[in-house]
Amino acid sequence: MMEKSQVRVCSWNEWDPLKHVILGYATDCHIPPVEPALDAKIPNDCEMRGRCGRRPQDSIERGNALLEDFANILRKRGIRVDRPQPLDFSRPVSTPDFYAGTMFGCMPARDVLLTVGEEILEATMSYRCRWFEYLCYRPLLQSYWEQDPDFRHEAAPKPRLTDRDYRPDYLNSGISLQQRLDWTARKHFVTTEEEPLFDAADVLRFGKDLIVQHGFTTNLKGIEWLRRHFRDHRVHAVNFPGDPYPIHIDATFMPLRPGLIISNPQRKLPEEQRELFQRNDWQIIDAAQPAHNEPPPLCYSSVWLSMNVLILDQKTVCVEKSEVYQATQLDKLGFEVIEVDLRDAYAFGGGLHCATADVLREGTCEDYFPCLSSELES
Ligand code: GLY
Repeated sequence: MMEKSQVRVCSWNEWDPLKHVILGYATDCHIPPVEPALDAKIPNDCEMRGRCGRRPQDSIERGNALLEDFANILRKRGIRVDRPQPLDFSRPVSTPDFYAGTMFGCMPARDVLLTVGEEILEATMSYRCRWFEYLCYRPLLQSYWEQDPDFRHEAAPKPRLTDRDYRPDYLNSGISLQQRLDWTARKHFVTTEEEPLFDAADVLRFGKDLIVQHGFTTNLKGIEWLRRHFRDHRVHAVNFPGDPYPIHIDATFMPLRPGLIISNPQRKLPEEQRELFQRNDWQIIDAAQPAHNEPPPLCYSSVWLSMNVLILDQKTVCVEKSEVYQATQLDKLGFEVIEVDLRDAYAFGGGLHCATADVLREGTCEDYFPCLSSELES
């Protein structure tokens, strides 16, 4: 569903004033049948193991009601909110290379769409069940394309996603937590280097620099693809030992404004990668502890969705209502904190940042890592 009025697409970072956003739906969301990359993300003792099919209708209705409330909070702040068009997610995904029993859904728009300046790029994705998810956003993107002559609608090459894309040792459901931590610390992730793979939510935008998490959903070839595609940008690969299920960077590392990042204290950026930020006067501080000991039922994500905040501008941030410690920390850092009740929608694919994709933030492409420019010049 799209609001009427002239559209402009442009967003260079995570913190400039937000004017227009896409927000997902919980409608018809499914728990897909087992497939390699998705399976690697589900903890051994999780209730979702062995379960698949359409999510309970009452949870879908509750999720959609909360998402609509979130949309209205944003609209009251003058932010335009567009919604995707859900598909029949009970349908299988079938290509010459693979078959997946159902699709996933279209709640976390951030996973699929990467906005960099005047471009929105559809990610390759790395789960078979999410192969067609971009179709939910096509009506919006096509209409933006009609309205904004500067908008570049791009799509990364669709991957084959054969069994060669996934490491067979991750298919064993009895992998211990320690084994997972050892593997992820060694960058032995479930995805191989068969072909470029990336999810858009592994990318954080810092003006001229893109910070990309190497993990389960984005491989090194995916990062190299982004490097060759965004030729005017510097693309940096990062990883976070301590995360046994490394997908999507935005519950791990979150810039709040120029010079300030909150970082997951259980998933530390290695010292040699931290240096890039320190040399450029970025302060990395530990995020507050989550308010919950467990994620909500049937949720893929960890309790660290507490730090999955949506920044409206350098002084205003949306935080999930129950995440009182995160809210207090942001308040002390000088932000106006807007509480958004969204925890019961987490199960559909994530928190406030995940659920949205930028269309317009006012601002220009700045260099927030000036040391890199001076090093190139010298
Ligand atoms: N990477 C998402 C989470 O922490 O659950």
